[in-house]
Amino acid sequence: MNKPTPRNLPQLPGGAGAEEILRAGLEAAGGPVALASSFGIEDVVVIDLIRELQLPVSIFALDTGRLPEETYQTAEAVAQRYGVRIDWYFPERSAVEELERDKGLFSFRNSLEDRHQCCAIRKVEPLQRALAGLSGWVTGMRAEQSVTRSVLAPLEIDFPHGGIVKINPLAAWSEAEVWAYAEKKRLPVNPLHKQGYPSIGCAPCTRAVQPGESTRAGRWWWEDPEHRECGLHRK
Ligand code: ADX
Ligand code: SF4
Repeated sequence: MNKPTPRNLPQLPGGAGAEEILRAGLEAAGGPVALASSFGIEDVVVIDLIRELQLPVSIFALDTGRLPEETYQTAEAVAQRYGVRIDWYFPERSAVEELERDKGLFSFRNSLEDRHQCCAIRKVEPLQRALAGLSGWVTGMRAEQSVTRSVLAPLEIDFPHGGIVKINPLAAWSEAEVWAYAEKKRLPVNPLHKQGYPSIGCAPCTRAVQPGESTRAGRWWWEDPEHRECGLHRK
């Protein structure tokens, strides 16, 4: 099969559903595909879809070393419910040791540069290892989540990760649709969602949002909204 390019990616109809997007993405990838799961509700919805449709998609997760306890509990609940293996990726030990020794445990508060350094060590490098050998990956991202994601295609070519296919089956879903699905299927839910956390990342870099605040307002809340990405989803 030819390597996918923006030109030969399948043109999906405007209202394409998650199943259609997943199937088209798998076909375009033409090789192994895995879901990146943070065990937020969107990712659990995608896991449920993948299992129900019996799609050949494995699941990996990035254990940054700073995840909330509730995220580990949710991951175990998901693994048990679906009987799936989670491939966990951990940061390089020596890089974390050096970072913590040189800059302390909260260096990400110092500056945008230091925050990016921590994300690079704890998330971006492990993601590169997780994606090695894959032809595509699936995320639970939605366009509605933030200004940084407002133009989110259901299928993309991920150039920063070697031109593999990136599949975003929930790109057009609203938050209400996600929760309606989760409630109907009684999915395992990270308890932090019920405590005002619509988006859940590392514990020290995530807080609850106030009513009316945007979905990702609690992520790196001390930074400007256009900076609130960690480098997993570079264009
Ligand atoms: S982030 O880039 O700001 O951290 P967000 O939490 O919104 O991302 O999640 C977007 C998507 O990135 C998730 O649906 C998931 O596919 C992936 N993702 C985020 N964090 C992780 C993680 N720790 N492990 C695996 N995948 C993750
Ligand atoms: Fe480090 Fe915070 Fe990024 Fe987690 S989200 S990797 S703790 S800067």
